[in-house]
Amino acid sequence: MNLLHVDASVLGDHSVSRKVSAAIVARLQAANPSLSVTRRDLAADPIPHLSGLHLAAAQGVETPVHIQAEQAAAQAALAEFLAADVVVIGAPMYNFNIPSQLKAWIDRILIAGKTFRYTAAGPEGLAAGKRVIVAVSRGNFYAGANAGAEHVESYLRVVFGFIGVTDLTFIAADGVQVGPEHRERALAGALQAASELRAA
Ligand SMILES: Cc1cc2nc3c(=O)[nH]c(=O)nc-3n(C[C@H](O)[C@H](O)[C@H](O)COP(=O)(O)O)c2cc1C
Repeated sequence: MNLLHVDASVLGDHSVSRKVSAAIVARLQAANPSLSVTRRDLAADPIPHLSGLHLAAAQGVETPVHIQAEQAAAQAALAEFLAADVVVIGAPMYNFNIPSQLKAWIDRILIAGKTFRYTAAGPEGLAAGKRVIVAVSRGNFYAGANAGAEHVESYLRVVFGFIGVTDLTFIAADGVQVGPEHRERALAGALQAASELRAA
């Protein structure tokens, strides 16, 4: 069984989402020692933003040499995702949405003919069967009147639903910028939820 571990926080050891995503991976590894883990750190090794030349090349236009690196990065990211049975993602909220590094990765995995296709009946997801677990960390709280400003979890639900993922879990650490006690409580709660994840 293959697990893909994706992180996007730029805050390194100070990151909440990295701590929680690591705890999720540790929980699943402890339950299944033969799990093969692939690491994708989008802050340390950013994937290039999608270019028009890349899309043109995908349509059969001759590829200039200078986009071969972009093509290789795109192919590697897609291959890792397709090979994964379980995907664990650390997803911080930056300016109400996911970090642009994570969006650049999503632009490489939502690929027509690979993870979705359009049919006469509408779009069809091709990534059903994967388990996706997302560790979200947010500075503020997004319940009630503030819910409309939340574009991390709501967006990722649309993304993974579109490609057919139904086994989708979110573990959230909220209010981590409200104060140190909130941060500690949010982190402890998220780590506890990670430790209670079902084994498989
Ligand atoms: C550049 C930046 C933008 C942020 N924007 C928001 C925001 O719009 N809303 C919010 O609630 N928190 C925001 N925060 C706070 C983060 O969501 C919070 O610190 C979270 O823990 C970040 O995840 P990380 O620790 O894994 O990087 C922002 C933090 C940074 C560094």
